[in-house]
Amino acid sequence: MISKDMEERISIARKSLSDAMSFQASGDFENAEKAYVRVLHKDYRTIDILPLLAGVVAKRGDAETALYYWNKLLGLNPAHLVALMEKGALLRQLGRSAEAVGCYEMARGLSPENPVVRNNLAVALADSGRQSEALAEFRHVLRLQPDNINAWHQIRRISSAIVPFWHIAMMNDTRRNDAFEAAIRRALELRGADAHILDIGAGSGLLSMMAARAGATNIVTCESVPAIAQTAERIIAANGYREQIDIFEKPSTELSVGREMKTRADILISEILSSDLLAEDVLNTFEDAHARLIREDAIVIPRAASAMGCLVASETLSNYAHVGEVSGFDMSQFNALAPLRLPVHGTMTEWTRLSDDFEIAAVDLTARKHAAALRKVSVPVHADGTAVGVVQWMKVDLIEGVVFDNHPDGYHDGGWLQVLHTFPQPVDVRAGTSLDMVVGHDRTSLLMTPIV
Ligand SMILES: C[S@@+](CC[C@H](N)C(=O)[O-])C[C@H]1O[C@@H](n2cnc3c(N)ncnc32)[C@H](O)[C@@H]1O
Repeated sequence: MISKDMEERISIARKSLSDAMSFQASGDFENAEKAYVRVLHKDYRTIDILPLLAGVVAKRGDAETALYYWNKLLGLNPAHLVALMEKGALLRQLGRSAEAVGCYEMARGLSPENPVVRNNLAVALADSGRQSEALAEFRHVLRLQPDNINAWHQIRRISSAIVPFWHIAMMNDTRRNDAFEAAIRRALELRGADAHILDIGAGSGLLSMMAARAGATNIVTCESVPAIAQTAERIIAANGYREQIDIFEKPSTELSVGREMKTRADILISEILSSDLLAEDVLNTFEDAHARLIREDAIVIPRAASAMGCLVASETLSNYAHVGEVSGFDMSQFNALAPLRLPVHGTMTEWTRLSDDFEIAAVDLTARKHAAALRKVSVPVHADGTAVGVVQWMKVDLIEGVVFDNHPDGYHDGGWLQVLHTFPQPVDVRAGTSLDMVVGHDRTSLLMTPIV
């Protein structure tokens, strides 16, 4: 038996609800909102009204208030899937993707095999910079919906943002690979097949598999990019080397002896040399390995590397490096924002040599510590021209008798590129003179500046 009062309240609420729906149907969201609020004030079907109210509020563009109503609903029913999904969407709209992830994760808990939930979670993870987790979510979407073209595309888009473009060219670089394999075989001859090997920076797992193929049985490798590490793990298993190689999805700085490694390594293998030698943080990584992960007398591959270069003139490259007058305007102030380095592919880009080759910096990778190093050099010039900068390549000493270089005269399709280090402004030079420069490194980048 309901009281007269209650009967009257329900009747008013029903009338307001009917008004709200009519306003909503006619696109009058403001009046629809007012009418839904009147229904709420009568405590009538609150759980059904809140989503309708949040919906019209969102439609009239007030995301914050819509969020308030979804939160109110979630207060009454925290496991409301629609509320979680709508709240997630509003948070993303408001640029609060990290919070949206939380909503979608709760939605995933409620409906784990729902492709829309998994897709929205993947998008929010990608938006909040959690690319590896986004990849895993998009992969799950694909398992649920193998024809989902968007998920395929997102997986490729995110993978190529995470994985540097040079990985495949590097794997296809037979000269580089052969040099590393020769050095690895030599080290195993010296230390025996049961030597403990640490391979920092597994990439595809190639160097570890070379060691395993040469008979090594105790190989630990690590890879800091999860998507790459997971792929390496599959490659190693597919090639039949799972027994010999332990791979860890973490940076070498998070490895430790007694946990991932049984003992300090007898041989360190690590190809983390960027085209400009230092940018992959090789010095810090090797210092840490010397201090914690390898034996004092460990064989270190590579054992040394140097950055070499020559002065170059190039109309093509100077158009990338320096600007002057454009359409009658003086644009030269933009030179302050010019690129410090540009990749060049051997001599495929037009450039001419103005000097002999000279050493920019050398690092002894068997050393336990490295300091930044700068020195003055006089570079002999042998041709007249305007130097846009220095084209630089590497000379890598892997082990006694095995060296590798990517000198631009003979190497232009491998994994390493040559790099143009631009001068702050073009420098005119004359044959028979020399250009005084300061060259060296600050531990993570090369430095070469003309003294003019
Ligand atoms: C140039 S690739 C070489 C890959 C493979 N070793 C080869 O030679 O084909 C370097 C790889 O090392 C990884 N890496 C760099 N520094 C690392 C570190 N300190 N710990 C773990 N991985 C690292 C990078 O993510 C990259 O995948």
